[in-house]
Amino acid sequence: MTALVNIKNNQTKLEGDKKKESRIKSNREVIQLRVYRKNSKQSKSSHFDEFTVPVQRWTTVLDALLHAKAYLDNSIAIRYSCRMASCGSCGMKINGIPRLACYTKVSEINENIITCEPLPNFPIIRDLVGDFSDFFQHHSSMEPFIHNQNADIVDKNNLTEFIQSPEDVENYLQFSYCIKCGLCYSACPSVASDTKFPGPQALAQAYRYVADNRDDATRSRMNIVDNKHGIWRCHFAGSCSVVCPKGVDPALGIQLLRGHLVSFSKNDKKLAESRTRILGKR
Ligand code: SF4
Ligand code: FES
Repeated sequence: MTALVNIKNNQTKLEGDKKKESRIKSNREVIQLRVYRKNSKQSKSSHFDEFTVPVQRWTTVLDALLHAKAYLDNSIAIRYSCRMASCGSCGMKINGIPRLACYTKVSEINENIITCEPLPNFPIIRDLVGDFSDFFQHHSSMEPFIHNQNADIVDKNNLTEFIQSPEDVENYLQFSYCIKCGLCYSACPSVASDTKFPGPQALAQAYRYVADNRDDATRSRMNIVDNKHGIWRCHFAGSCSVVCPKGVDPALGIQLLRGHLVSFSKNDKKLAESRTRILGKR
């Protein structure tokens, strides 16, 4: 009789535990965090480590990773800085989609298992940290600054302003919101197949300066992007614009830049034809 009572008590306790467990799961008080681990200097192999992490409604994936790093395994490598979607450091693949870890709440992801992997198209340094050298090289190859001879300060007493109308600013404004997080670059199938292709971020930045009426280097920017690894490699998959966390539309920038390029070469052709005509008449 006592044994029967004990079994019943154990069953009740087990059911109670199960109910508690399912309540915890449905309320998402804990999640399973799967973290990609690899140290390129030590080995070529990689694996996933799993951590059980407590979460609140407002916990971001970055918070969850930092909890795991602080209390469970301090060797996890993560890159982050601002924690407010401004510095562009914490990009990673979260449940298969490139996102900013500080801008992605656990509650947004309808899964109890959250898998964090490094961004594709970047060589891995360690764990979730990729090497951005090529990415930044592509960015700086676009000369991402205003070229304008009149901007040189020759006489400090005779300074002039570049006055722009709101419409002038609107032409390039959304492209200036880029934080260089590399999410678009990681989502681009053309980058995956050709590392010399500058990628959506760099091309959108080239357009940002072409569209800025203070810049007078359109022709040289066109020469930078118009080559066999350049702008024509874009197959307009559009995934860059889908993953951008700042509302930039790099795919649109690329199409507008192509438009400029085509009209430029048409103008050049017309110019060459009229020159030949004029020279022929002489
Ligand atoms: S365009 Fe968007 S996704 Fe690409 S680097 Fe800039 S902010 Fe990041
Ligand atoms: S930590 Fe700066 S963008 Fe996420």
